[in-house]
Amino acid sequence: MPHTLSPLLPDDHPAAATLLHTSLVTWYEAHLRQGARFGDSPEPFRLIPDAYAALDPNQAIAARDTTTGTLLGVCFVHPRETHHALGIVATAPEAAGRGIARAMVTEAIRRATATGLPLRLVSSLLNLDSYSLYTRLGFVPGPVFQDLLFNVPTTGLPVLAPAGTDRIRLARPDEAPALADYEHSLQGIRREQDYRFFLENRVGQWRVHVSENEAGQINGFLVTSLNPAMPMLGPGVVATQPTAAALIWTALNALPGQSYVLLAPATASTLIHTLYTWGGRNIELHIAQSHGPTPTPKGLTFPTFLPESA
Ligand SMILES: CC(C)(COP(=O)(O)OP(=O)(O)OC[C@H]1O[C@@H](n2cnc3c(N)ncnc32)[C@H](O)[C@@H]1OP(=O)(O)O)[C@@H](O)C(=O)NCCC(=O)NCCS
Repeated sequence: MPHTLSPLLPDDHPAAATLLHTSLVTWYEAHLRQGARFGDSPEPFRLIPDAYAALDPNQAIAARDTTTGTLLGVCFVHPRETHHALGIVATAPEAAGRGIARAMVTEAIRRATATGLPLRLVSSLLNLDSYSLYTRLGFVPGPVFQDLLFNVPTTGLPVLAPAGTDRIRLARPDEAPALADYEHSLQGIRREQDYRFFLENRVGQWRVHVSENEAGQINGFLVTSLNPAMPMLGPGVVATQPTAAALIWTALNALPGQSYVLLAPATASTLIHTLYTWGGRNIELHIAQSHGPTPTPKGLTFPTFLPESA
C-alpha cells in the first residue's frame, strides 16, 4: 500500500485514537483472544495523541495512504536530554504487514541518529510482530519487566503498610529538576520535561509520590496515571527494593476499588514476591530495547507507556 510519512496534526487526533484502539483490539484478539482488554470505545485513546502533542509538538509520525490521505499508521517520538524515546507504534489492521511500521520506526531512528543519541522503547514480549520489528531494525533487547495487575479492594490493600511508607510524600510542583537529576544519577538518562508534564497536569492527570531517606534526600519516586485510558503506575525510579515496596503500596492504597498495572523489573525477585502477596497477577511481559548504547543502570526502574519510558 503506497504511503507517505508526515507529522501527525491535531486534526488527526480522533482518527489516531480510532487507529490505536482498532489496531490493539484486532492484534490482541487475533493473537491472544484479549481484544476486550482495550474496551469498546476509541474515545479514551484520545489521551495518547493529546498528551504526546502537548509534550512534543510536531514530533509524532503519521503514515498516510498516498492517494486518499487516510491515516494508516502512527508512531510517537519524544526527544530528551540523553536519548530519544519511542512511544506506541500502531498500523491500521487493513494495512498490516506492508512495511508501514518499519518506515515510521526507521524515521524515528534517523532522527535520533542525527542527534547522536540512542533511541529507547519498551516492547511487549507477547507481541512478536513488534519485538521482531524493532530487533530487525537494530534494537538490542535489555531488561525484562513483568506487567502486574492489581485489583485494589474498596477498603484499600489487604496488607499492612510496609516499612518506609512514613517517609513518602506527594511531589512538590517545582520538583521536576530534582526528579530528573535523581533518575540521571541512577539510570543515566534524563527527561525533566516529562516530570514537569506530570507535575503540571495540563493534559491528563498524574500524581507523583516521592520517598525521602532519613537525611531528607530523594531515594525514589513513582508516578500514578489517574487517566481511565491508562490505569498504570510509573514511571518510577527507586534505589532499593524495600523503598520500591513502600512507594508501590502507597500508590496502590490510594486507588481503592480500581485495577492498576505496574511494570516491575523481573530481576527484583524479593519485590516481585511481595507484590504477589498483595494480589499482583502477571498479565504480560515487556522488554526494554535500545538502538544505540545504554548506560549501565543502578537501582530499579518502573517504565510506563504514556509517555513511553524505559
Ligand atoms: C506491531 C505492528 C505495529 C507492526 O506493524 P506492521 O506495519 O504490520 O509491521 P511492518 O510490516 O512494518 O514490519 C513488521 C516486521 O516484523 C517482521 N516480523 C513480524 N513477525 C516476525 C517474526 N515472528 N519473526 C521475525 N520477523 C517478524 C516482518 O517481517 C517485518 O520486517 P521486515 O520489514 O524487515 O520484513 C502492528 O502489528 C500493530 O499495529 N499492532 C497493534 C499495536 C501494537 O501492539 N503495537 C506495538 C506496541 S508498541
